[in-house]
Amino acid sequence: MPTKPRAEVRPPAQIAVLAGVGEARAYRAGLSGSVALVPTMGALHDGHLEHIRVCRGLADHVLVSIFVNPTQFNQSEDYQRYPRTLEMDIRKCAEAGATGVFTPGVEELYPPAEPEVEIDAPELTGDLEGRDRPGHFQGVCRVVVKLLNVLRPDVVTFGRKDYQQLRVVQAVVRDMMMPVRVVEVSTVREADGLAMSSRNARLDAEQRTRALGLFKALNAAKNLVEEDGETDPGAVERAMQAVLRSHQVEVGYTAVRHPLTLSELGCVEPALTGGVIALVSGSVGPVRLIDNMLLGSG
Ligand code: PAJ
Repeated sequence: MPTKPRAEVRPPAQIAVLAGVGEARAYRAGLSGSVALVPTMGALHDGHLEHIRVCRGLADHVLVSIFVNPTQFNQSEDYQRYPRTLEMDIRKCAEAGATGVFTPGVEELYPPAEPEVEIDAPELTGDLEGRDRPGHFQGVCRVVVKLLNVLRPDVVTFGRKDYQQLRVVQAVVRDMMMPVRVVEVSTVREADGLAMSSRNARLDAEQRTRALGLFKALNAAKNLVEEDGETDPGAVERAMQAVLRSHQVEVGYTAVRHPLTLSELGCVEPALTGGVIALVSGSVGPVRLIDNMLLGSG
């Protein structure tokens, strides 16, 4: 039987672990060639690793930041309970081909007694996740700008899984004229369609089945728009709610929006807007999940 070529496995010894800002700046200054960054909060799954794979094709060095960012959690319980698996994460980064991992401490990125700075793109952050999680995107913007300024990558990836975050970061980078290219990475899903998320680890078997309601709701929206030609955004949103409820998912929001501005649509006309984005959020037990799907883009 022909043997398959073995995937390159980089032992963890070959990955630089940068625990401090000074160390990270010095390491970055010593790199020649292009640098890509994958910002994460750890608890890495195949969705995150896909970013590393994408970056390997885009840059000479791939850095991953692992930092559970307190300023983007509006509930301290959620922050405390966020899974932390640093040692395993570093091993996964090494195996996926990352060259360095940045793992700063909270006090270093947020020195106590320093004046707070707010970065925001209010037209994009006031609704959806921003409405349900006040302060969330301001926290994301702040940490992303810090990470970009410390590591100065040429390329940074953000996942479509967090669609609103992607659009917010693109706006900040564009408006602040930051010299970095933002690359979008498609959502990696489990075999049955559930979007991979660090929060999925908190679902028990019964909740895991209910959680599939998010993906099913998005597929229902896709069928309504693409097959039935539904043009009423309210009808599509109600159809998604019905699917979520039938899976005992507590509805946060269902929305059909412009794919770039995230503004509300009077009429669903994907051909005019380059597709429309359907977004859902819902809670399954204590776990809050989000997902989205671009409709009518083909
Ligand atoms: P985190 O949730 O760890 O996600 C890190 C990156 O992985 C984000 O760009 C996210 O969109 C992407 N991602 C998550 N699940 C994915 C999936 N199933 N498929 C593909 N990509 C996926 O998002 C954050 O961290 C934080 O807000 C951060 C940007 C790091 C700022 O703290």
